[in-house]
Amino acid sequence: MEIVVRTIDPCRDPLDCLILPLFSDGELPQAAAAVDQAGSGFLKQLMQQGDFRADCGQTLTLYHVPGVQAARLMLVGLGKSTKISDLNYQKALLAVGRALADRGVTQAALFGLELAVPQRDPAALAEIAVQAIADGQYRFDRYKAPAETPRRELQTLTLALDDRLAPQGETILAAATAARITSEATAWARDLANEPGNVCTPTWLAEQAQTMAASRAIEADILGPAQMEALGMQLLLGVAQGSRQEPRLIVLHYRGGEKDAAPLVLVGKGLTFDAGGISLKPADKMDEMKYDMCGGATALAAIRAAADLKLPLNLTVVVPASENLPDGKATKPGDIHKSMQGLTVEIINTDAEGRLILADALTYARRFKPAAIIDMATLTGACIIALGHQTAAVLGTDEALVQDLLAAGRQSLDRAWELPLFEVYQEQLKSPFADLSNVGGRPAGTITAACFLSRFVEDIPWAHLDIAGVAWKSGEHKGATGRPVPLLVEYLRRRAGHPR
Ligand code: BES
Ligand code: MN
Ligand code: ZN
Repeated sequence: MEIVVRTIDPCRDPLDCLILPLFSDGELPQAAAAVDQAGSGFLKQLMQQGDFRADCGQTLTLYHVPGVQAARLMLVGLGKSTKISDLNYQKALLAVGRALADRGVTQAALFGLELAVPQRDPAALAEIAVQAIADGQYRFDRYKAPAETPRRELQTLTLALDDRLAPQGETILAAATAARITSEATAWARDLANEPGNVCTPTWLAEQAQTMAASRAIEADILGPAQMEALGMQLLLGVAQGSRQEPRLIVLHYRGGEKDAAPLVLVGKGLTFDAGGISLKPADKMDEMKYDMCGGATALAAIRAAADLKLPLNLTVVVPASENLPDGKATKPGDIHKSMQGLTVEIINTDAEGRLILADALTYARRFKPAAIIDMATLTGACIIALGHQTAAVLGTDEALVQDLLAAGRQSLDRAWELPLFEVYQEQLKSPFADLSNVGGRPAGTITAACFLSRFVEDIPWAHLDIAGVAWKSGEHKGATGRPVPLLVEYLRRRAGHPR
């Protein structure tokens, strides 16, 4: 999707589709008023008649309106002007993205960046619009029989400026371009995660990472079982031993910063299918466990966006990739494995495998002397109980890092909330036979999982995002969401001092 920013006369430009946001109360916004006048008041009439109420997210497409050169007008409701918010704006533009995709619109111009939305300037609205429209355009249909008429995608999105906004054109273009890059990375993370487990194996995931890196300024290093053995990664190998698929440790480096500046390291759980191992999961919804590599996918997407945005920072990504299956050779409850770091772990429940593969990956990450480590993982069902599918959990040892992640989440509408990492929870991880147990019981499951990870990061500033709830959706729009890529990219842009 190409982005263009320019001033447009809504009546005279011979565009394919004009997108006109409208409020359900009060006056028509500028462009809508001009179009209404050209068409002898047809818009006001439509609204008075109740054909289009401009409820938030409602759309209506009109064709060949007299007095307007554009082939289509797409009306979109923002709801009441007194209740306008960034969230409503996002919801409306997501509906626009879906409606454009349904109609196969290839060229569209969006009006209304001058609208007053609390806390959001026109550049921020442009970012939200680009990401929401891209989100609405997203499809994963490569395994379906091709449609009779091939699907057309939006090729050009023009952001229309009025004369008052014209001086801000460059700022708006820069913001919208960053949003486009973020959206492309997000869509890629969704693609990786939506692939079924028989395709998306650890080896395949590593190949995708390599291919992505090869066309960018990213260096890739893929470790297999022999190297893991030599490094003493018995926790990662222990999870993989029940599978016929070899595990991989995917390591990527992007060096956009000063040569000797300590890197930020992103670690992402890349469990390509989690059946639970010998502690087998119930059959209901087990298919969704193909998404257990979403932490890894979002880490890979984040470094891709950082490289495409040419962010001036050093970034490393470490993704431990494995399956977790039951087998005669699989790890059994009660087995004890030694981590790369030296601590022994009694594996009480083989379904608590994410923390095991992450532990060795975190130990490996320490060798890069990171300024900070952030890990992302679909780690606990308890996180879904605590925060649902709307909000990711953040836990960490570095308060500033946690606060920065929360702020990035607010800005990108990719919400996160902090849970405590009090020392007292460590008690729950005691084992009579090993240094640590891999489970801490049902109470505070998200916290004890993070406590487990904390033992392997030790003194490095660290934060953990539990994305079990936000990484994918069930229901009508079932599939991977690409979250928290928007949060991560926003965080990286801020960290790099990138102008917004
Ligand atoms: N991948 C799951 C967590 C998960 C569950 C994510 C449901 C999304 C939806 C993880 O490996 C797991 O199985 N965790 C266990 C831990 C428990 C055994 C301590 C869980 O949450 O039930
Ligand atoms: Mn599991
Ligand atoms: Zn898992």
